[in-house]
Amino acid sequence: MARKQASSAAREPKTVFFCAECGNESPKWFGRCPHCEAWNSAREGPGRREATPARRAGYGATEGAASQPVRLEEIAPGAESRWPSGIGELDRVLGGGLVPGSLVLIGGDPGIGKSTLALQLAAALGRAERSVLYVSGEESPRQVKLRAERLVLRGGLDRLWIQSEIDLEAILAEVVRLDPALLVIDSIQTLYLSSLDAAPGSVSQVRECGLRLLRLAKERGMPVLLIGHVTKDGSVAGPRTLEHMVDAVLYLEGERHHEYRILGAAKNRFGSTHEIGVFTMQGDGLAEVENPSERLLRDRGDSVPGSAVVAAIEGSRPLLVEVQALVAPTHFANPQRVSQGIDPRRLAVVIAVLEKRAGLSLAGADVFVNVAGGIRLEEPAADLGLALALASSFRDRPLPADLVAIGEVGLGGELRPVPQLDRRLAEARRLGFRAAVVPRRSAPAGDAGALGASSLHEAIGRVLDPDAR
Ligand code: TYD
Ligand code: MG
Repeated sequence: MARKQASSAAREPKTVFFCAECGNESPKWFGRCPHCEAWNSAREGPGRREATPARRAGYGATEGAASQPVRLEEIAPGAESRWPSGIGELDRVLGGGLVPGSLVLIGGDPGIGKSTLALQLAAALGRAERSVLYVSGEESPRQVKLRAERLVLRGGLDRLWIQSEIDLEAILAEVVRLDPALLVIDSIQTLYLSSLDAAPGSVSQVRECGLRLLRLAKERGMPVLLIGHVTKDGSVAGPRTLEHMVDAVLYLEGERHHEYRILGAAKNRFGSTHEIGVFTMQGDGLAEVENPSERLLRDRGDSVPGSAVVAAIEGSRPLLVEVQALVAPTHFANPQRVSQGIDPRRLAVVIAVLEKRAGLSLAGADVFVNVAGGIRLEEPAADLGLALALASSFRDRPLPADLVAIGEVGLGGELRPVPQLDRRLAEARRLGFRAAVVPRRSAPAGDAGALGASSLHEAIGRVLDPDAR
């Protein structure tokens, strides 16, 4: 009896309240979202039972009918097929290329190069005999053409269709007519569905348009590339539900006035999120940087105090980067701690360890830290390099120019081993570094260049005290 009631209740169409900021759903109205704490963000809409992305996208089911479970054994095997674009740095981040039927979101600040990258990808697929429909809601076909003329696209343009449109229904009609291999939407925030009573870019439009495109991608086995604007706090503007529904979220980042552009993945159902792609913005588009370590170290000056080279691992590849630190007497009651490319909390920990365990008195000093090239170092393996850069600036004595630092610094001032040390050392050697400070326990025996140290204090002594070397 109870069961019967439950099933009939489930069939009734239910509405719920969802948060316009984060997409959180609640059966009751709320004044403040219990999830993201935004005020007045509750909107009424269909509940998840009716509205899960998979259900609305109609995975494996015709509209209205529920999909049937399939026994795992009966599902046809086979690796996901991929379409490599030939833009190596992009393919690396995608996990080998575009997966047919996938929905990929690429975010980034305005002017960073998203449209440029999308157009280069479109042309690359065109060269592989795949046609692309590039929908721009922001630029006229003429403007897209002007951009295409600036780029060195080496062909592929005869299969590229440009449509200036923001009405999703009209776009869907063109997809059916042209049957492109790839659809590019530049940008998701300009699209609208006339059936919805909300402005383009609003949460409900972005969410519904996203769902329609998800369904389109799965139905046709056609990858869809969505371009999205990013808000100041770094998330793609619009509901978080967009990030949940897509297969991959890529970010193109970099300082606008800086030449490097770093492509990373915040989410990827078909690959690792640790890979990064490195590009430079040139007069004729984004150019791949195939040998990033070499490139990043090229602009390094002669030995100056405060500069250290660390060997990081980004995804499957070692990356040598310069960390710069400046320690200067402060004029403030609260000294400044400014860091770019390194988490400020990590910096605070390393400063505290230097104070307490290595006897460096930084309390009265401003500290500025920068990672060259706009790279972001997230690995603890960069700790030692950061600490040595700080100590070097503090003592006003340069580190040896041919030295790399690899190691995690513990709260007790001890150096902890890091993964894949041999690959980091190999890359350093390849680039001409003859010495490396590493945690003692993992120092390879018989490698004269590897200086093992068991504590930060010892490491500083070995590389900054000429007598001890
Ligand atoms: P764009 O791709 O329009 O950025 P987004 O779509 O992310 O807003 O690129 C914008 C910037 O890139 C613009 O300031 C001009 C510059 N640019 C180049 O330097 N070289 C080029 O070949 C192109 C097409 C753009
Ligand atoms: Mg653009």
